[in-house]
Amino acid sequence: MRIIPLQTIEDTQALAEDIAGSLKGGEVLALSGDLGSGKTTFTQFLARELGVKGTVNSPTFVIMKQYHTTKHPLTTLVHVDAYRLSHEDELMELGIDQHINASHSVVIIEWADKIKDYLQKLDTVLWLEFEYNDGVRKVILK
Ligand SMILES: Nc1ncnc2c1ncn2[C@@H]1O[C@H](COP(=O)(O)OP(=O)(O)O)[C@@H](O)[C@H]1O
Ligand SMILES: [Mg+2]
Repeated sequence: MRIIPLQTIEDTQALAEDIAGSLKGGEVLALSGDLGSGKTTFTQFLARELGVKGTVNSPTFVIMKQYHTTKHPLTTLVHVDAYRLSHEDELMELGIDQHINASHSVVIIEWADKIKDYLQKLDTVLWLEFEYNDGVRKVILK
């Protein structure tokens, strides 16, 4: 477990760069934390670092969105917003399984605690628990 203070946007950017540099493909990044805690900001920096072009927003209504990446050996970033999911079956129907542990893909999931039971069955899940309390931001890596 590691606790990382995220006092400024630059701290979030540095963390995203750090984690992006460690990705080999097949990883799942599970982001939890309340609204406004910094999940999407982190995802946007990570996407940029992986070479995703264009805007990355939370796929709140479509739930899952794929982006082309250019950071070898990665080819694909899959961004999931689990906020509106009422059951993990919906995610199966969207085809998340084909991306999980795929060798050239990284899956990043906002509101991952909503599908905790599903994620606990997987290998290589890095949990990032974002917190924003009394003006203080941090993330706990597990
Ligand atoms: N490390 C940080 N320092 C300062 N502001 C931040 C930081 N991370 C995120 N923010 C700001 O907090 C707000 C909410 O962030 P966002 O990433 O949308 O949260 P979430 O996706 O968890 O709801 C945004 O305005 C964003 O710019
Ligand atoms: Mg968000």
